[in-house]
Amino acid sequence: MKIAAFETEHFYAKYEFNTPYQLCNSDCETVTVAELLSMAGVSMEEFGRLSLGYTETLGNPRFREMIAQSYAHVKPEDVVMLATPVEGIYLIARAALEPGDEVIVLSPAYDALINTFEHVVGAGNVRKWAFTPGDGQWDLDFTQLRALISARTRMLVVNFPHNPTGYLPTQAQLQELAQVVEAYDLILFCDEMYFGLLHSGTPAISSAVDVTPRAVVLSGLSKTYGLPGLRTGWLVVQDKALRDTIINWKFYTSICPPAPSEFLGMAAWQVREELRKRSVAQIENNLQLAEAFFARHTGLFTWRRPMAGSTALVGMDVPSVTVYAAELAAQAGVLIQPARTLGIDDDRHFRMGLGRKGFAAALEKFEAWLNK
Ligand SMILES: Cc1ncc(COP(=O)(O)O)c(C=O)c1O
Repeated sequence: MKIAAFETEHFYAKYEFNTPYQLCNSDCETVTVAELLSMAGVSMEEFGRLSLGYTETLGNPRFREMIAQSYAHVKPEDVVMLATPVEGIYLIARAALEPGDEVIVLSPAYDALINTFEHVVGAGNVRKWAFTPGDGQWDLDFTQLRALISARTRMLVVNFPHNPTGYLPTQAQLQELAQVVEAYDLILFCDEMYFGLLHSGTPAISSAVDVTPRAVVLSGLSKTYGLPGLRTGWLVVQDKALRDTIINWKFYTSICPPAPSEFLGMAAWQVREELRKRSVAQIENNLQLAEAFFARHTGLFTWRRPMAGSTALVGMDVPSVTVYAAELAAQAGVLIQPARTLGIDDDRHFRMGLGRKGFAAALEKFEAWLNK
C-alpha cells in the first residue's frame, strides 16, 4: 500500500545539515550528553556501565512510573515507551483503524499526522479540520468540526500545542473536544509533543488523557526538552484492548526502546523542569525578536502570534514561498520551511521555528537579504 511523500522530512534531509542559518526548526536548543548527565547528577562511569542488551518492550518500569505520575489519572501500565516519537503515530493508526474508517485531522499538521492515517484508511477517508485565520491569531471552528463527523468517523487527530500554528486551546475548548469524542464514540488522538511550552500569558491546560478516557496521547522528549537525538517518546493508552494491539504492532516496528536513550531519557526526566524552562526562555526571547521583525515588515508578512509551542505559521505575500525559500537558502544560507510541506493548501505561508539559539543571527541574515 502506498504512502505519500513525507515532505517535511525530505525538506530537512535536503537542507538541515548544509544551511547555516535556520529559522524553521520545531525542536528547542539541545544539550550534550555531558551537560545532561551533569545537570542530572549522573556520572559518565555510570552511563558507561549500562548494558547494551535488549530492554523491556514497554519501557523501563521506573521510567513509566515517573511518566505516569506527571499526569493526573494515568497508571504506569497505561504508558507504552516507544523507540521514537513518530513511531507512536504509526502504531495508533495501525492498531485503531481499518481501511474505510474515517479520520478527522486538525490541519495543517506535521505530515505523519495526515499521511500515516491516509495510508491506513485510504486518502479519501481523512477529512481536514482546518484552522481559520483570525485577526492576529489562528482560531478553531467547532461548527466545522461537527459537520465533518459521519457514521464512519473513528478518530479525531489533534496536536496541542500545535505545530505549526502554535495554537493552544483553552481548558473549556479541550473539554468541548472531549464531549464531541464521547458523544460520537471517537478516539481522540492528541499529539502533545510540545506539552508545557507555554508562552507568558497563556494559561496551562490539562493533558487530553486527563480530560477523557477516550484520549490517546503521544508525548516525548524531542521538543519541549530539547532532546530530539534521544528519540524518546511514549503513548498513553488507557484502553487495555487497544494497548495490547499497539504492543503487538510494536513488536514489528521496534520491539523495545534503545538502552542508551532510555538511560539518558530517565536522567533527563529528573531535570525536566529545568530543561523545559530553558526552552521556554529561548522561545520567549526569539518571539520578541520575531515580533519586532514582523512589525518592521508588515506589508510582506502576516504575523499571527503563537500561544504555545516552538513554531509559528506566518503568511508571506510572494507568488510562491516554495520558490522563495529555495532561493533564500541557496543565496543567503537562510532556511524557512514552506507550509505546503505541512499540508496547507496555498503556497503563501511558512513555518517559523522559535526554539533555537541561532535564531537571532538567522533573523538578521534574513533581514539583510530582504533589505538588499
Ligand atoms: C507534531 C509532531 N508530532 C510528532 C513529531 C515526531 O517527533 P520525533 O521527530 O521526535 O519523532 C514531530 C516532529 O517534528 C511533530 O512536530
